[in-house]
Amino acid sequence: MDRRWPTVFLAVLALAMVPRTGRCAAAPVLLAPADGAVVRGADLRVVYAVPAGTRTIVRVDEIPWDGRRVPVPGDRVDLEHLSVRLEEGRHRIRVLDAETEAELLGFTVVYAPPYSTRTAAGPGDRPYAFHTRQGEAACSGCHNLPGEFETAPDRPLSPAGKVCAACHPGIEAAPNLHGPVAVYACFQCHRTDYGPARFAVRSSEAAGCGACHDDFLARILGRKKYVHGPVATGACVVCHDPHGGRTNAVLRQTPPGLCLLCHAQTLPLPASRELHAKLACTGCHDPHGGATALLTRLEGNPLCRSCHPDIDRDGAGHPLAGHPVRAAVDPSNPARPLTCLSCHDPHGTRDVARLDIEHNETLQRQFCRRCHY
Ligand code: HEC
Ligand code: HEC
Ligand code: HEC
Ligand code: HEC
Ligand code: HEC
Ligand code: HEC
Ligand code: HEC
Ligand code: HEC
Ligand code: HEC
Ligand code: HEC
Repeated sequence: MDRRWPTVFLAVLALAMVPRTGRCAAAPVLLAPADGAVVRGADLRVVYAVPAGTRTIVRVDEIPWDGRRVPVPGDRVDLEHLSVRLEEGRHRIRVLDAETEAELLGFTVVYAPPYSTRTAAGPGDRPYAFHTRQGEAACSGCHNLPGEFETAPDRPLSPAGKVCAACHPGIEAAPNLHGPVAVYACFQCHRTDYGPARFAVRSSEAAGCGACHDDFLARILGRKKYVHGPVATGACVVCHDPHGGRTNAVLRQTPPGLCLLCHAQTLPLPASRELHAKLACTGCHDPHGGATALLTRLEGNPLCRSCHPDIDRDGAGHPLAGHPVRAAVDPSNPARPLTCLSCHDPHGTRDVARLDIEHNETLQRQFCRRCHY
């Protein structure tokens, strides 16, 4: 890494480092990100210049931040780099003078992941793009940013170069990398021209995935009667991380966590005695869509019997010999036929299975009375 500081950068610093009236202190300069920046990645790089010799402490939401810091001494300024791992939402980052605790620099940054259901942005917030000519100029004197000749769309970057990973280590950290990321074909999905920002995503919607998964798209959008909400709006990246995941299918989280990102409010699962606690939501629901309005893989009793084939085998009756599980009206809800769901909640709230009801007369009276007076 050499020290050819670009002229733009020097000019910015020279301006900012002019001593203020009466004092020798100079204002620090924030190089990345910007105040009010709304970012889409959880890993944030913060780079700022302070007058040479200043000792600083950093607070993220008032909590002292001891993440990895790289001080880079210059002639009149010290450049400090730090990596911050963000939670969804708004954060205040402050750089303080270590001795006086006076604030040298303070700014706000908003992390809005694609699955965010809250509107994170406020009045002063705006989308942030670092890879503009100006943004990159502050770093390219010391860092290897890919030149235009290296970024032809059909030309994968050399993995050995670690060109992007030097500043974006998180992208390649997932145990299961998405196909094109594994071969470093970043520019299949990211644009390479500066217009207005380099590396903007070609499409973050279904069409972007369809460039390579057109068969799959045709299968879910064309053939499924009911399409799941976020799939219908093309928001594939709310569930899939385009770069990689911890498990197969490059998921951001595994179900049920993935599903509860959006369904926690509408689907309050009981804290204890969960019926299918260990069974992922996708055992019963197709995450993309299905033949039923509730996206179940099968409809009615066949769904349950696909995993519980012994129940009512040969029409022997259940839960007691001779008791029907189908072909009758549900007396507790006459609009629906009697099915497994008349007595069992697939999500567990009406779980009766572990109660040994056959030998407990009180329970029998309570439970059976829902349908038999
Ligand atoms: C399959 C398409 C695809 C490929 C291949 C891809 N990306 Fe992305 N990338 C995206 C999409 C889509 C987004 C925007 C996600 C969002 O809206 O939050 C994104 C966002 C990003 C971001 C900003 C958000 C963050 O997570 O920090 C970075 C940095 C990034 N990509 C780097 C890379 C690098 C480096 C590579 C190659 C190693 C790469 N990408 C390959 C689709 C892709
Ligand atoms: C010198 C460090 C550096 C290098 C090298 C670098 N980036 Fe970035 N990149 C940043 C910073 C700083 C941001 C601002 C947001 C952040 O901190 O995550 C950023 C943001 C992004 C974003 C989000 C959109 C934007 O412009 O803010 C994408 C996409 C991205 N980088 C892709 C890439 C790709 C692809 C490569 C490799 C070809 C690459 N970056 C190399 C520093 C770098
Ligand atoms: C004066 C030279 C210089 C400038 C200008 C500079 N850096 Fe650095 N940067 C360094 C050095 C030196 C390292 C340490 C490399 C190492 O130890 O691996 C570094 C490390 C980094 C790292 C890795 C930090 C880590 O936690 O491992 C990132 C990310 C980074 N710089 C981003 C940037 C960005 C973004 C800019 C522009 C806003 C920038 N740098 C400007 C010299 C510079
Ligand atoms: C540049 C081509 C390309 C684009 C664009 C692309 N993919 Fe892929 N995807 C691949 C390749 C290649 C594989 C690996 C295929 C294989 O292993 O059979 C893959 C595999 C997958 C898998 C299966 C992973 C696994 O471990 O089972 C999922 C899920 C996936 N992609 C989702 C997406 C989503 C969502 C998007 C849009 C954000 C997308 N892809 C965009 C090329 C692409
Ligand atoms: C609600 C979350 C969610 C959304 C939104 C979503 N997926 Fe998936 N996807 C999953 C899960 C979970 C799996 C794992 C396989 C399974 O359990 O059926 C998966 C599997 C896949 C696979 C690989 C397995 C297969 O069936 O071939 C592909 C490809 C895929 N998704 C593409 C997409 C595309 C393209 C979109 C956008 C149109 C999308 N997904 C939207 C949750 C989602
Ligand atoms: C990004 C948010 C999001 C995620 C993540 C998500 N869903 Fe949904 N889901 C929706 C939306 C939006 C609807 C449509 C609701 C409507 O039309 O009223 C929906 C509808 C459904 C329905 C149909 C019932 C109904 O209320 O309309 C089921 C079942 C369902 N989702 C299951 C799942 C499962 C299983 C997962 C995990 C694989 C999941 N969802 C993940 C947003 C999400
Ligand atoms: C054992 C199978 C099974 C499992 C596991 C399962 N579901 Fe369901 N789910 C169903 C069935 C069946 C229905 C329809 C219930 C009805 O008709 O009364 C349903 C209905 C729903 C509905 C819409 C109706 C409502 O109750 O709000 C949502 C949303 C839903 N499930 C989400 C999920 C999520 C999220 C998970 C994982 C935490 C999950 N399901 C796990 C079988 C299952
Ligand atoms: C994908 C397979 C699968 C499907 C579909 C399924 N189950 Fe289950 N079910 C299981 C497994 C595995 C267990 C035991 C582990 C557990 O409790 O999570 C279980 C447990 C149960 C139990 C408790 C048994 C006990 O001894 O405590 C009941 C009751 C039950 N399921 C009813 C249903 C009903 C009703 C449906 C249909 C809405 C259904 N199941 C659909 C796999 C499934
Ligand atoms: C009329 C109400 C009722 C209907 C309908 C019903 N169940 Fe049950 N089920 C029960 C009761 C009560 C128990 C608990 C028995 C006990 O604890 O002794 C039970 C227990 C279970 C068990 C765990 C014990 C065992 O026998 O393995 C499973 C699994 C189960 N039911 C699945 C189903 C399936 C699948 C269907 C639909 C084909 C169904 N149930 C229909 C009331 C019902
Ligand atoms: C969800 C409603 C429901 C619940 C709960 C329920 N049953 Fe039933 N039961 C039915 C229906 C429907 C029939 C069939 C009535 C008909 O065909 O007229 C039936 C029939 C019966 C019959 C007559 C069977 C026959 O041979 O004709 C008995 C006995 C019976 N139930 C006992 C019980 C007992 C004991 C319980 C508690 C463990 C119970 N039921 C819980 C709905 C229910």
